[in-house]
Amino acid sequence: MKVLLTGAQGQLGRCLTESAPTGTDLVETDIAELDLADSERLMSGLIDIAPELIINAGAFTAVDRAEEEIESATRVNDTAVGVIAGYCNSAGCELIQVSTDYVFDGTKRSPYLPDDPAKPLSVYGRTKLGGENAALGGCDSSWVIRSSWAYSEYGQNFVKTMLRLTKERKQIEVINDQRGSPTYARHLAAAIWRLAEVKPAARILHCTDAGELSWYDFAEAIFAEGASLGLIDRAPTLIPVSSSDYNAAATRPAYSVLDNEMTNDLLGIEQMHWRVALQTMLARF
Ligand SMILES: NC(=O)c1ccc[n+]([C@@H]2O[C@H](COP(=O)([O-])OP(=O)(O)OC[C@H]3O[C@@H](n4cnc5c(N)ncnc54)[C@H](OP(=O)(O)O)[C@@H]3O)[C@@H](O)[C@H]2O)c1
Repeated sequence: MKVLLTGAQGQLGRCLTESAPTGTDLVETDIAELDLADSERLMSGLIDIAPELIINAGAFTAVDRAEEEIESATRVNDTAVGVIAGYCNSAGCELIQVSTDYVFDGTKRSPYLPDDPAKPLSVYGRTKLGGENAALGGCDSSWVIRSSWAYSEYGQNFVKTMLRLTKERKQIEVINDQRGSPTYARHLAAAIWRLAEVKPAARILHCTDAGELSWYDFAEAIFAEGASLGLIDRAPTLIPVSSSDYNAAATRPAYSVLDNEMTNDLLGIEQMHWRVALQTMLARF
């Protein structure tokens, strides 16, 4: 099967590339080969490549920067997905659109189900929701897979930032009033390939590692596991702060745990607990 991957240089993109099933004719693209912000060239690029499946892992992922760069975030996360979905529908191509827990407002106190109403709090969340709607509304053979708090050995993510900061700071402030589920991007990649194979009837799926915690708890675990693997010499002092004290440009949901049950049933997979997933990633680091 000829599969076009966007965002191939990103952390999820690299995990998808590494885990592509044998026999996949994978066309890896990132901004240099297929700029999602350029609708015209995007459409002609898609026509030239003529894939049978598109996995859209490319995105404007700078959550705080998106508050200022609304137009760029919209073009990449929303408008481009409309172009891709339009191509897919006319060419008989399938589409897997990767999305985020930040489409929810975080007022729930039990895991979000795929059909819970989305009410994003940020530009990033709004543009990603726009992308979900563009995928589902524009292409009959499309799926949205939402994940949260993704990390891996690649790119920029919370785990790598925490490990780096152990060398630079004696104390670190970390938010303790946002709860979610970290997800090793390799696990999300595996679920995406399984989704491509199963093609379930449900079109919105949730996929994270199991369990929930705050960013503060996650930082504590990263230092503990990093120390036990000899990755850090000295854990900095962790200082819990509230989201309002932290004052990030974008508002994040206070609670964004996603319910994976339907995904597990449909894809025949089981989530790994976040702590085991973290140990697995750090052991490869
Ligand atoms: N990271 C998370 O915590 C998280 C959580 C839930 C869902 N997701 C979703 O998962 C997907 C993959 O995210 P990720 O964590 O792998 O992010 P990432 O590492 O930032 O990867 C995104 C990739 O898209 C590329 N890109 C940006 N603008 C582009 C453009 N105009 N045209 C083509 N490519 C462009 C980026 O290039 P540059 O690096 O040069 O910008 C990067 O290579 C995204 O849909 C994201 O919304 C991520």
